[in-house]
Amino acid sequence: MCGIVGYSSTSNSIDLSEFVSMIKSLDYRGYDSWGFTFKDKDHLTTEKQVGKIPTPTQKGNATFVIGHTRWATHGKVTEDNTHPHISNSKNISLVHNGIIENYEELKNKLKKEGFTFYGETDTEIIPNLIEFHLRNSKDILEAFKKTLDELEGTFAITFLHNSSNKIFFARRDSPLVVGVDKDALIVSSDVTSFIDRTKNVIYLEDGDYGYINSEIKILNRNKEVHREISKIDWDVDKAKKGDFKHFMLKEISEQVDTVKQSLMQDSELITAVANRIKSSKVYIVACGSSYNAAKAAETEFLKNGLMPRIVHAHEFEQYEKFLSENSTVLAISQSGETLDLIKAVKTAKSRGTQIISIVNVQGSSLSRLSDQNIFMNVGPEICVLSTKSYTAQVAILMLIASALVIKPNQAKQEIEEIIRNIYYLTSESARKYTKELSQILRYSNHIFTIGRGRDYATAMEAALKIKEVSYIHAEGFAGGEIKHGPIAMIEHGTPCIVFVPNKENQDILSNAQELKTRGAFIIGISEKKHEVFDYWIKVVGPDKFSPILRIIPIQALSYYLAVMKGLDPDKPRNLAKSVTVK
Ligand code: G6P
Repeated sequence: MCGIVGYSSTSNSIDLSEFVSMIKSLDYRGYDSWGFTFKDKDHLTTEKQVGKIPTPTQKGNATFVIGHTRWATHGKVTEDNTHPHISNSKNISLVHNGIIENYEELKNKLKKEGFTFYGETDTEIIPNLIEFHLRNSKDILEAFKKTLDELEGTFAITFLHNSSNKIFFARRDSPLVVGVDKDALIVSSDVTSFIDRTKNVIYLEDGDYGYINSEIKILNRNKEVHREISKIDWDVDKAKKGDFKHFMLKEISEQVDTVKQSLMQDSELITAVANRIKSSKVYIVACGSSYNAAKAAETEFLKNGLMPRIVHAHEFEQYEKFLSENSTVLAISQSGETLDLIKAVKTAKSRGTQIISIVNVQGSSLSRLSDQNIFMNVGPEICVLSTKSYTAQVAILMLIASALVIKPNQAKQEIEEIIRNIYYLTSESARKYTKELSQILRYSNHIFTIGRGRDYATAMEAALKIKEVSYIHAEGFAGGEIKHGPIAMIEHGTPCIVFVPNKENQDILSNAQELKTRGAFIIGISEKKHEVFDYWIKVVGPDKFSPILRIIPIQALSYYLAVMKGLDPDKPRNLAKSVTVK
């Protein structure tokens, strides 16, 4: 994952504290450690630190500067392993996102040539390999190209050489964009780092490499290429916390608007996707909460006679042999950058398979690879946890699932009718109950979540939310499955969250009883209060939309559990928002 930014002034230099803020805006991509290098005449100065990026205290200005925020893959979180990485001669400073798969082989080769290494990262070989190729190259760009040809794996790279007034870059399977400001060019993992300066962006393609100085030079397969400038269409304010203490709470609260915004779709496209699911093999491919969103809509697809295959992107390889021009991949992703998903989509595309995406970030790798996009329209989601993206994905999938049974406008209206329920669920008065519950659950070691049918997916998503942000072990089960193992874990007081529909699947109440008999503390999420509950959270609304409604109190519960434990809900340990490694 990791975030990269490289700033090359075309007229004014940048204050280093401002530059550090740009790196900080990428910390949702990783926040184990951070660093930067700036060039002053022929000298490179580097600063690195372990931990989250503090409020900037750096002094001075720079014309050429590169920076990085790390999510550790190879090598522990130490200062030595923190980027930028410096070559043996100290002439090159480089930052990298991705994984170099053949780094051990390259490291051994460089060692034989006399190079030494101070850290454990795969990245450290890159500046040294460039340095090695410089011995027999006419210029830095040629040495860089020779290096890129030797690298196996995925990467976005940016580096400085002390003798050159350029910032070099390259991308292969990891995102990299260039912001075009009036007095600077900025190469970065994501537009978030420069959105408050410029909305003009160049999306680099796989295999692109080159440099920025007062202009941009891009090459691909040894030929110079031109990439158009696009306009970013979202607002900076949407990426700010406003009156909220954390992005997570802001984004939970926004769902009253975002579910509605997600329904603004082209009805013909929605119906066409539904028809494809009916007439051809459709694979819904996704990871994390996006995968859970697909599972949450599965009941509605099945009810309406549609049977898409829902597959984790990282498991998709097993299905690849079934792909053809007659199949379709419906890829779901908030970021549009999840590497496992991008890989699956690229393979499908190479077989002639149609790619349709439900994606939030316009201009993302996924949106550019797809034949058709259904944009989620929820605005930037900054908290690492998916909340408003999840409910938007479910809402869009519900539209598709209903498209062959009722008119798309009627389906939209039906979902719009639950907006007032969402309004209540996200209100402060409803959150009072989840806050109170978080006080009861804050010292728990385990929480189990149980549902049947469409609530099974909600149970999975609920457990994911709780564990990723509060670090309390949480697991989701199908109600019918608990007696086949999980019930052995129940002791006196073990919290079990049970999703109870109004009419469908009432067997869940028997499962709740089975748990209660063994001592479980039953938390019911339902419209009606049942005797078996020890604690009740009221959620009003039709069963059909349970996956959108019943997850909201658990999002809030997870938030309060984190806050109560003194944790940062926006940046849970070890996680990143955009997972651009395998
Ligand atoms: C990461 C995030 C999750 C997200 C998953 C898939 O693990 O922390 O919140 O659900 O990636 O991301 P995507 O952007 O593809 O939906």
